[in-house]
Amino acid sequence: MIRPQQIAIDGPAASGKTSVGKLLAKKLDYLFFDTGVMYRLATYVALQKLGDVANEEDVTAITKEMEITLRVNTEKDETEVLLSGEPVNQAIRSPQVDKNVSIVASYPGVRKILTEKQRKIGLLGNVVMVGRDIGTVVMPDAPLKIYLLASPEKRAERRYQENIRKGMTADFHEILMDIMKRDEIDSTRVLAPLKAAEDAILIETDQINQEQVVQKILSLIKYQE
Ligand code: CDP
Repeated sequence: MIRPQQIAIDGPAASGKTSVGKLLAKKLDYLFFDTGVMYRLATYVALQKLGDVANEEDVTAITKEMEITLRVNTEKDETEVLLSGEPVNQAIRSPQVDKNVSIVASYPGVRKILTEKQRKIGLLGNVVMVGRDIGTVVMPDAPLKIYLLASPEKRAERRYQENIRKGMTADFHEILMDIMKRDEIDSTRVLAPLKAAEDAILIETDQINQEQVVQKILSLIKYQE
């Protein structure tokens, strides 16, 4: 088969979607697109402007006006998220954003705005897109859908190590609680809940590292070729 034009990767919080997606995109020379960044950015801006995210209408209006620029930084090998020209990669991963992002992501108006933008990117093809609803809602026709699984403890441990590496403060218990809370909100919301698409391939990652997950996905592509 011709290489899948779109690869959807979904899974719960800190299941390794970003690191796996990035590595996979690099190997295939595809665009890597992390949809979580959009929800995080909307949350960050709402917190800055409103102080909290309780007012659905105001948060939706902010999301609509938000100008997002994504710039690929080849030196750092990452996508920089710019807000009015300022990089906000670190700021959108703060514990405060972690605590509020799932509430923002449950607002239908916010999802509608961001889903449309994501679909347009998906249509460009040659893309690895990661999130919660990519295989089910954003790109239901993607030829290859992956759903990553890992225990909450394993995911919290990985996120803890990642934050330490980035020089951010990290508290294992706080991270574990946040992950479990977000999973609960994300999987029980009415619109586009976190779940595997019926035709998604499930990969359990507790016992294997990101390189091995990527190899598994690549072998699926080869198998389909
Ligand atoms: O990297 P991590 O798994 O911690 O989270 P993320 O992918 O950056 O996503 C942050 C939050 O955005 C999630 O907990 C969801 O509430 C929301 N999200 C979503 O609802 N739909 C997506 N396609 C992506 C993220």
